[in-house]
Amino acid sequence: MEPTRESLIKLFSYYRDAEIRGAGLLMKMMQREKDPEAQVLFSRHIDDETRHSWLWTERIKKAGGLPVEVPDGYQRRLGKALGIPVNIIDLFALTVVVEERASRRYAEHLASPYCDEATLEVLNNISADEKWHIAWMEEWLYKLAAKRGGERGGEQKAREQLERYRRLENEVFEEMKDFERSWLGFSFSD
Ligand SMILES: [Fe+2]
Ligand SMILES: [Fe+2]
Repeated sequence: MEPTRESLIKLFSYYRDAEIRGAGLLMKMMQREKDPEAQVLFSRHIDDETRHSWLWTERIKKAGGLPVEVPDGYQRRLGKALGIPVNIIDLFALTVVVEERASRRYAEHLASPYCDEATLEVLNNISADEKWHIAWMEEWLYKLAAKRGGERGGEQKAREQLERYRRLENEVFEEMKDFERSWLGFSFSD
């Protein structure tokens, strides 16, 4: 069933909201990880995420709408499932997991027969950046973990933590699908 204009505006608002939340989390992390090289990467990454949120805002306007308020059920449940990460390594792991989810969602949308030209352009533009986001975050996560946890021990622990987060996030996402279907009227993840 083809999504209605209303439901697309909701979905674009959801994407927009996720990009803004991503930028907010990165800004907090940037104040914790003072390494100069990481500062450069954070700056570029934040620039990308705020631009992505603007691209979704433009897409919403093009559809003749304004951003709508997005329910925060996913974030709330994710916070409950994972616990609030306090150390920087866990924050990196959380970022990797939510970036992976965003990438998967965008790929599913791209593959949908209902993806229109204007949205395709935005998705292609954004997806190109998401790859390096995941790559540098994951790399830095292991670098930090190795430094702090004494070579392989720390890295192994970080790997397990990332796997744990992936598993829990997946459970939360599955639980949220029904809710999303009822909010949007459809799901590209079906
Ligand atoms: Fe993004
Ligand atoms: Fe990203």
